[in-house]
Amino acid sequence: MKLAVAGKGGVGKTTLTVWLGDYLARKGEDVWLVDADTALSLGPALGLGEDQVPTPLVRHKDLIQERVGSGGFINLNPRVDDLIDRLSLEVREGLHLLVMGTIAGAGSGCGCAPNALLKALLVHLVFQTSQHLLVDLEAGVEHLGRGTVSQVDGLVVVSEPSLRALNTASQIGSLASDLGLKQQALVLNRTDQDFVLPKDKSLPQVAAVFPPLDSLQKRQQSSSSVLDLEDRERIDALCEQVLNRFS
Ligand SMILES: Nc1ncnc2c1ncn2[C@@H]1O[C@H](COP(=O)(O)OP(=O)(O)OP(=O)(O)O)[C@@H](O)[C@H]1O
Ligand SMILES: [Mg+2]
Repeated sequence: MKLAVAGKGGVGKTTLTVWLGDYLARKGEDVWLVDADTALSLGPALGLGEDQVPTPLVRHKDLIQERVGSGGFINLNPRVDDLIDRLSLEVREGLHLLVMGTIAGAGSGCGCAPNALLKALLVHLVFQTSQHLLVDLEAGVEHLGRGTVSQVDGLVVVSEPSLRALNTASQIGSLASDLGLKQQALVLNRTDQDFVLPKDKSLPQVAAVFPPLDSLQKRQQSSSSVLDLEDRERIDALCEQVLNRFS
């Protein structure tokens, strides 16, 4: 299963990506988590220290120049098979982290050099890893480009129960549909069970409702990790609901 996770800023995209990946890895699956956000927060959310997280691909200027070139001649089909090891980390058995940085170009075929390498790497990962791929995207709609969308099978749209977050979720749903990504699921995060979702045709169907968790809020006061909370069983059950939507 290859999924991208999108939504407005701060709604819980990174948290959910890590919960889904951790859940699958504990079930014995092989999982690749891809950080495609400039904020690069998957590492800390997995409990990694700054010095443990690989340098993101977008900061390897020499590598980008070497593989893709610059100026007028850009190689759109660069070699990437040897880069995975350099740019990724096996967090624990079956759980891998690849740090890329932002993939730009909403729907357009942006031909800039870093993007060409990012897209090539994502394509390679999709084809080489027969297993699960979860891409944590940058907040908002601008970065939901063809480069990402054409590589994944499904989109998890995360929202909070606020009008602004739901508007962004709706825009994302509609843009992804236009780009051909019809398999979508809405995850309501930090949401009480009695919340009534406004009617909006572009909002994907709700797959799961994650409640506000005191355990996570407390944890975040002293650690960036979102793992091994006392609510883990509850979180696992909700992750299963989300994943079932795509199987
Ligand atoms: N269900 C929840 N209950 C309590 N706190 C939560 C919940 N989900 C997320 N949080 C907290 O909300 C904050 C934002 O979450 P997170 O970083 O996952 O959002 P994001 O969408 O990835 O943000 P960004 O747009 O900045 O990348 C974090 O501190 C996280 O611990
Ligand atoms: Mg994030």
